[in-house]
Amino acid sequence: MSRSPEEGEPLHDVRLRVNGVWHESQVPARRLLSDFLRHDLRLTGTHVGCEHGVCGACTVLVDGKPMRSCLMLAVGARDHDVTTVEGLGTPEEMHPVQQAFRECHGLQCGFCTPGFLTTVAAFVEENPDPSEDEAREAISGNLCRCTGYQNIVKSVLRAAEITRENTS
Ligand code: FES
Ligand code: FES
Repeated sequence: MSRSPEEGEPLHDVRLRVNGVWHESQVPARRLLSDFLRHDLRLTGTHVGCEHGVCGACTVLVDGKPMRSCLMLAVGARDHDVTTVEGLGTPEEMHPVQQAFRECHGLQCGFCTPGFLTTVAAFVEENPDPSEDEAREAISGNLCRCTGYQNIVKSVLRAAEITRENTS
């Protein structure tokens, strides 16, 4: 087992799939998944706000389920399938949630947006015909300091609508 030069800690092998690509690395046991994504893989679309599981900015999908990457260790994601905001879509071929947030102006500064996009992507997959109350409930674990949430709720409903259109 090798050791991290900076931290003097033993390193552990980790292999996980991120946005469809397998990555193998060695990380200290306490390396957070959020730090692994941002610093080791340079996927800085995942934002870190509170680092305490409160704000939701760091949300990624692990095997399709929203997870706080600031509360998860990189070694805990070993052999799992992680999707970050970078893996949702491309500028040319946006994911329904990206399209909806753009159409409905569901963001201002954008700091919270990656966490909303991943959360809502999983939600509309599971419930492509939500009520407004269900849309509000779905985003209740994500904090936004800018928008007042109205356009985010509209974006959730529009993302569901696009998802329905795409599957009909
Ligand atoms: S940074 Fe992870 S929940 Fe706030
Ligand atoms: S758009 Fe600024 S925090 Fe949500």
